[in-house]
Amino acid sequence: MKVEPASSVLGHLAVPGDKSISHRTVLLGAIADGETRISGFGRSADTEATIAAVRALGVRVYESDSETLHVFGVGLRGLKPPRNAIDCGNAGTLMRLLPGILAGQQGSFELIGDESLSGRPMERIAEPLRRMGVAIETTDGHAPLAIEGGDVQPISYELPVASAQVKSAVLLAGLFASEGETTVVEPLSVRDHTETMLEAGGAKIRRRQKSASVWPVERLEFGELEVPGDFSAAAPLITATTLLAGSELTVHGVNLNPRRIGLLGVLERMGGRVTVFNRRRIGGEAGGDLDVRSSELVGTEVDAQEVPLLVDELPLFALLAVHAHGDSVLRGAAELRAKETDRIEAVVDGLRRLGAHIRATEDGFVVRGVPTRLRGGSMDSRGDHRIAMVAAIAGLVSREGVEVEGAESVAVSFPGFFDLLESLRR
Ligand code: S3P
Repeated sequence: MKVEPASSVLGHLAVPGDKSISHRTVLLGAIADGETRISGFGRSADTEATIAAVRALGVRVYESDSETLHVFGVGLRGLKPPRNAIDCGNAGTLMRLLPGILAGQQGSFELIGDESLSGRPMERIAEPLRRMGVAIETTDGHAPLAIEGGDVQPISYELPVASAQVKSAVLLAGLFASEGETTVVEPLSVRDHTETMLEAGGAKIRRRQKSASVWPVERLEFGELEVPGDFSAAAPLITATTLLAGSELTVHGVNLNPRRIGLLGVLERMGGRVTVFNRRRIGGEAGGDLDVRSSELVGTEVDAQEVPLLVDELPLFALLAVHAHGDSVLRGAAELRAKETDRIEAVVDGLRRLGAHIRATEDGFVVRGVPTRLRGGSMDSRGDHRIAMVAAIAGLVSREGVEVEGAESVAVSFPGFFDLLESLRR
């Protein structure tokens, strides 16, 4: 797919429901009591995998329209082992959260994934779950995973990597503990959607700046869950608007959880012009509308503490930095190498081929910004949806356009991305 240059973008839009939160609504709805009605559900290949997974586990899911689901929960311990392995597709969140729930079920379960997911580290969840007494095996540290549900012991666990997926797996297993408090210590704050949703379902949660604790529950009940728009889906559009002179964009109903919007802080330092208005709660989370204008940027540095707050947006930070005045540096982001692809290599290699001055380091990159359009050319997504979106935005802001190789991977999180992008051209 070739993305041609644009002179500017203009529009008012809403983005799909948050992917992280959408996964959690279905997983928790599945073990709740009674029906959970989910509105604003973000449909994508990843979240379809989660719907298919809970169906395979015996949960009825009725789709009344594309964004509204009715999940008929089977109760906390009511999931049934399927005959076949559960296919998590490309979805890391599914493969890392579901074991926390399966820990408390009766029977044996096997989880498999696609080639990319099968290359990603899984001991990071298996190790704490084993400490909780769960019988879980990885295949040389990767998928397939085998889990035997049973008794669960509470633990106190300090995250060795800043990962909300690992934190969530441990907290979810803690719901099934025979007694007592399960605590996850997070040296760097990571997203807290699981805690917010568990509270809404009636679980006792204690949150501190650097830890979260959960106690065993008898039951969860939600009734209704609303999914706010996905900031990570808005981020490529915010980037395009910032970089194309004369552009203006309004994004309605976006999740503005402070642990998700680190890109806004980085953009502010760089001289970006993003205004938040209509602040409100959406589905129990901070939310609001965004107004974005184009602006000239200056380089900045992003360090380890900030990394989890924009972990999925760091490839876009690279593109912003390439167009800024002066140097930018990313440090403490080695986790990017363990995403759907090695995102440091993918973005550095890809942007260099388009004419950018960017170099990879072990845990980030160094950029020499030049405030002119990149030449363009072709950029390989390496099958990674976030890289495909960076390549598309690079095409829009380039001189000659960018051929996005593996463009179809955007469907993993944002199936309507290219159509929406085209509708914004002015
Ligand atoms: C996610 C957490 C992050 C993020 C991923 C979704 C989640 O991963 O990159 O896209 O839903 O909890 P890590 O937990 O591996 O940092």
